[in-house]
Amino acid sequence: MTSIVRTVAEMREHVRAWKAAGQRVALVPTMGALHEGHLSLIRIAQEKAQRVIASVFVNPKQFAPHEDFDAYPRGEAIDAEKLASVGCDLMFAPNGAEMYAPGFSTTVTVSGVSEPLEGAARPQFFGGVATVVAKLFIQSQADVAVFGEKDYQQLQVVKRMARDLDIPIEIIGAPTARAEDGLALSSRNAYLSTEERAAAVALPTAMKAAAVHVAAGGRIDEAEQTATAALKAAGFGQVDYVEVREASELSRLGPGPIGEARGRILIAAWLGKTRLIDNMDVG
Ligand code: PAF
Repeated sequence: MTSIVRTVAEMREHVRAWKAAGQRVALVPTMGALHEGHLSLIRIAQEKAQRVIASVFVNPKQFAPHEDFDAYPRGEAIDAEKLASVGCDLMFAPNGAEMYAPGFSTTVTVSGVSEPLEGAARPQFFGGVATVVAKLFIQSQADVAVFGEKDYQQLQVVKRMARDLDIPIEIIGAPTARAEDGLALSSRNAYLSTEERAAAVALPTAMKAAAVHVAAGGRIDEAEQTATAALKAAGFGQVDYVEVREASELSRLGPGPIGEARGRILIAAWLGKTRLIDNMDVG
């Protein structure tokens, strides 16, 4: 049975009892619409701690007014069943007023690593993410938190935020769960039509080809251009970015060969009205 709590006070009662019993506590922050990718994060959290909390909160502060906050898929009962099926101990599902009290006036801003890529395409996104994640860390007092590498830049921003604010929590990045054809699992895949879903495989395919090209000593600018052209040819509309960046600071690499740097290729592109993101290591 997964207990559902809606207030910080109730969550802390559970956490206090667990810690008094000497148990480690893990947190998996989510916005619900849970899929196998989220469940894989819960399983990893269970390897790191005796108790696992999944937070389910569609955070209004990380959506711009024109973005999909209202349309974002919600299904709390199904989420609760899925969490129960993997033995998650607690679901923290606060409402908006519990998370943001009237007059809420604080924003956590992480500069540098949050600025390019998603930060450039979605200017208030990381302020919203860093604020809610800092709150979740402080609210839950978890020992460890697990985030998917699917949102790779988010993972780097959260690591930096926790380090800079001395929040005593270990942050673990978990590998991206993928469909059989390679498409990264995402709650937003639910927006894709059948035809778009078939075309979407071009994204992981182009990404892998670019990573292989760069890993083999090829030029970064060539890899980025070829991947962009492949996305366009497959029916993608706007390509927000296809970039090979240094893996932890996300500073620019290239335009020539990668040399000794540790790289990450990151992509965001639109298929119809759906924005897809993905990334992988450039070994
Ligand atoms: O990755 C997400 O689902 C969200 O950005 C997060 C980390 C739960 C914060 O709202």
